[in-house]
Amino acid sequence: MPLIDLETRTRLVKTALEVRRYAYAPYSHYPVGAALLASSGKIYSGVNVENASFPIGICAEPVAVYKAVSEGERSFEAIAIVSSNGATPCGFCRQVLSEFGLNILVIVANEDGKILQETLVADLLPGAFGSAYLNQK
Ligand code: THU
Repeated sequence: MPLIDLETRTRLVKTALEVRRYAYAPYSHYPVGAALLASSGKIYSGVNVENASFPIGICAEPVAVYKAVSEGERSFEAIAIVSSNGATPCGFCRQVLSEFGLNILVIVANEDGKILQETLVADLLPGAFGSAYLNQK
């Protein structure tokens, strides 16, 4: 597990909890907030953004990752994800996170800010598909 102090983990959960209000989830009514800690020390938030064309909707985690990467970040330490009942990241989100490190700490909390799970991307996505497969002849 990466060594991330309790204060930082709490700050991430608080950020995810606060941004969750901006989730656009008129179809599922399941708002999700995410807060991603880059190695630079900056925190990037994300929320799920749904669409009337359902499959186009995007989860909170990739929004946070894409925001961060589009601002020059490539290295991440941890992500906190907050939903009503503490859902763990879906398969798509696990793959998005794995691109940037199997050692990223994943903190799952509920809407009370209670941490229900702390794990690594590596544990959420065993046998991850990654760039190494593409470089083989
Ligand atoms: N959702 C996320 O934002 N992250 C996850 O890891 C699981 C699901 C969103 C997608 C959709 O907008 C809503 O939750 C219900 O599936």
